[in-house]
Amino acid sequence: MIIAIDGPAASGKSTIAKEIAKRLNYKYLDTGAMYRALTWKVLKNEADFSDEMAIVEFVKDTKVYFEETIIGGKLIVKTYLDDDDVTEEIRLSEVSNHVSLVAKISAVREVMVKLQQELAINKNFVVEGRDIGTHVFPDADHKFFLTASTGERAKRRYLELKEKSHEVEASSVEHELISRDTIDSTRSASPLAKAPDAYVLDTTEKSIDEVVEEILKAIKGEN
Ligand code: DC
Repeated sequence: MIIAIDGPAASGKSTIAKEIAKRLNYKYLDTGAMYRALTWKVLKNEADFSDEMAIVEFVKDTKVYFEETIIGGKLIVKTYLDDDDVTEEIRLSEVSNHVSLVAKISAVREVMVKLQQELAINKNFVVEGRDIGTHVFPDADHKFFLTASTGERAKRRYLELKEKSHEVEASSVEHELISRDTIDSTRSASPLAKAPDAYVLDTTEKSIDEVVEEILKAIKGEN
């Protein structure tokens, strides 16, 4: 069974999707981490983000995979790029600021989407991203689209970065979110969009537990 969770940046997708996967004992796939890992590779190689051909060459020669463990009751996922652990690096603001430029290249998406489908098809997976319910798994058993106000999303992302001791300014976090959402939702190749049959959940004033419970109820058909 595939549970698709889509939504804009910092709408709570990762926290919620990991908790749902843990509670249901499903595997978890963070498709954003795949685009982030490729972006990290482009940065490390000092390639030009406007050189789409070079980026497409990178994606053809890139291995991304995940390792899951449960520590202290929480699902912890490590991301590997060509066998290096890049879990921390892919969250750097340098990566966040460039990832949409990589994710908008349709030849990159084709490779990534194929990988995502191969990984999760016919298995029990919670898959989170921007185009999961619309494009990667249009026949997913359950589809959710999480939203939250821009202010709330910027606040969450700012606190998350602060907690990890990243040097950030609240105004630049909000600016980065808005610019990423704009590129993600206006690109021509499978943009960020709500599937017509997705269950929409505004998480602005909801706790993580409330959202998790609402999703689990919807999956069980109790809503
Ligand atoms: O979920 P995230 O913020 O880690 O995603 C990083 C970027 O990757 C996001 O700005 C858009 C892109 N992305 C995408 O285009 N399609 C997906 N399925 C997942 C993420």
